[in-house]
Amino acid sequence: MIDVIDNKYFYLHNKEVSYLFDLLPNQQLEHLYYGEDLGELSGEDLDYISLHPNKASGTVKYSKKIKNFTLADRMQEFPTYGTSDFREGAISIEYQDEYLYPDFKYDHFKITTGKRRSLDFPASYGKDSENLTIYLIDSERQLELQLSYSIFENLSAIVRKATIINRSKRDIKITNLQSAVLDLPSDNYDFLQLSGAWIKERHIVRRPLTQGIAKAESLRGASSHQENPFIALVDKDVTNDNGNIYASNLIYSGNFISQVEVDEWGQSRLMTGINPATFTWKLSQNQVFSTPEAVLFYSNQGFNGLMKQTHNFVKKHIIDQKWQKQDRPIVVNNWEATYFDFNEAKLLNLAKEAKNLGIECFVLDDGWFGTRNSDNSSLGNWTVDKKKFPRGLDHFSTQVHKLGMKFGLWFEPEMVSADTDLYKFHPDWVVRHPYGRFSVGRSQYVLDFANPEVINNIYNQMEKVIEKAHVDYIKWDMNRNITEAYSPYLKKIGLGQGEFFHRYIQGVYKLYAKLLTRFPNLLIEGCASGGGRFDLGILFYSPQIWPSDDSDAVERLDIMSGTLLAYPLSTFSNHVSQVPNDQVKRITSLKFRQNLDCFGPLGYELDLNKLSLEEKIQIKDEIKWYKKNRKLLVNGNFDQLLKFDPSQNTYAWSVSDNNSQIIGFYRKLARPNETLDQYLPLKHLKFQQQYLINQTQIVSGKVLQSFGLREPYQFNASNPNTAQVSGDFQSYLYQIKAIDRKN
Ligand code: DGJ
Repeated sequence: MIDVIDNKYFYLHNKEVSYLFDLLPNQQLEHLYYGEDLGELSGEDLDYISLHPNKASGTVKYSKKIKNFTLADRMQEFPTYGTSDFREGAISIEYQDEYLYPDFKYDHFKITTGKRRSLDFPASYGKDSENLTIYLIDSERQLELQLSYSIFENLSAIVRKATIINRSKRDIKITNLQSAVLDLPSDNYDFLQLSGAWIKERHIVRRPLTQGIAKAESLRGASSHQENPFIALVDKDVTNDNGNIYASNLIYSGNFISQVEVDEWGQSRLMTGINPATFTWKLSQNQVFSTPEAVLFYSNQGFNGLMKQTHNFVKKHIIDQKWQKQDRPIVVNNWEATYFDFNEAKLLNLAKEAKNLGIECFVLDDGWFGTRNSDNSSLGNWTVDKKKFPRGLDHFSTQVHKLGMKFGLWFEPEMVSADTDLYKFHPDWVVRHPYGRFSVGRSQYVLDFANPEVINNIYNQMEKVIEKAHVDYIKWDMNRNITEAYSPYLKKIGLGQGEFFHRYIQGVYKLYAKLLTRFPNLLIEGCASGGGRFDLGILFYSPQIWPSDDSDAVERLDIMSGTLLAYPLSTFSNHVSQVPNDQVKRITSLKFRQNLDCFGPLGYELDLNKLSLEEKIQIKDEIKWYKKNRKLLVNGNFDQLLKFDPSQNTYAWSVSDNNSQIIGFYRKLARPNETLDQYLPLKHLKFQQQYLINQTQIVSGKVLQSFGLREPYQFNASNPNTAQVSGDFQSYLYQIKAIDRKN
């Protein structure tokens, strides 16, 4: 619900949350509150909340005209640096070499309902949204700023973006335009970010806020393995189920900042948007620039409360609803099974075995095109390798389809190798600075996706292959970051290179949109050397992402724990791979890998023909069970049951719906002589209900709730017959169902 009170207070609220702002004496927007729902607010309440004595001493005043008024310590919706506020601002505009210090004053507002999903640019959508746009005018500089807010049913999420329109005749340059700002009155939080590197993405990292700036960012042209756009401010004593959390995420895949600045009075300013370090944008008369959307989240119910918000938001308002409803196929991917060493016969054997085990989709990874037998060749030449597929790729895909499986194919659309005609005949289609030296990553170069001709060329090549081979599924990879950023195309058309990074990512979205318009049933899996572009921008088009090139199930425990703070299970492709694992050489049991990988969209990435009969039977059974429980495992409500800690040894999580739960329990290293009676705290139980555990034991909700779920018995030097788990890398699954028991 959005209320506008006295043309002064703007109040977005629902059962989950309230968000309130008003007009300052200078007609800018003051932030007042974001948090637990406050319900109806009286005039007295509003007076009380908005009371703010002017801070006189030691501050610069905004203007002579408004007595004692300063922005220095004001919470604001969209602050400008240098206008009596010295914190970093959300907007910077230049004209020639001058800063303009824009001064936007409230003009009017508009409220609408519903947001349509459009493939043009990733954004939240939903029939249940209410949207408020505030129009602000800077009459002296002849600029218009529109601040948009959306609120959805039963969610604490507030979606924001900013749009600027140049109403003057002169060309101006935007050097910073953030998507959202959230000023908070306290700094009593830890700054939480999801960071890491290739093969160890999105680990949870926390540090206390202190005066100054804590920042997560990317300057790589992609949201990056290193730092994710999602950040959170968490109460220092936050637990899984209690404590305040403010979080933000950006619906964007390019260079970003997500930062929190603490000022000298202990106030915190969260700000997120395009990274201004690599961004400028020219705006001529009547031109418009809009930021990507940012999402703010609030929960007072700890990490599980936050995940309820982030997961439901992504499921309902980012991911294409088609993929929310349809089952995600169980895939076999040949990458770790064959790497580049394959031919049609070898792949067909893999596909047949996969079918035999119950797998539903065969994904042909890198190496099917040009003469690509290693990673230094053929990107950009998307024609089928006749040596590997003498009868064409369509011949192979027909065999796969005949088996009753879907056919998936790998592309890396944004890249080019030096041995291709594309590179030879179009040197100006490559991102490259005119200076002599340029960097190489994985022996490949980045195509200039700011150039529409490049996108059309790649689209036409992809379209031909997809159509001919009846491709159902694409894995869209992206294996190097952008260096010496420079677009020959922008130079040619007279635009500044500061526009490159944003135009590049717009180009990526454009190609997604073209492909999905032409092939609306295509399921596209995102990937960027694993999880180098795991963000809401990509998830808008790709409902799932290959989260890491590290398929080791133990490492995945930490990657999942971090990723799941911001993104639901349905976005997370998990593949059972061989042991010793290719990335860390760790050996874990098939059971351990299966028990972990079944949470979310499941896949296999190993040579199935090399498995023993016993292992095949185990996989077959697992797949049968997974299919029965897929809805719950992919789209159930996710909860962490044990406290997060960087040196965590034991993990437990659950997925639940109204009547059932599946609980995964994992222990990295065996612990000798542990207390036997340990319990996992369970959630979502009804006191009066009876529950059946693993088809064997019946326990009442009240007992399960009070005691918890008994942890599996660990081998304890003397209990071999009763031990349920033993050795390192233990795992155990529980299935709990509500039952009717007639006495
Ligand atoms: C990086 C991806 O993350 C891998 O899964 C695989 O597709 C390779 N690229 C192929 O080159």
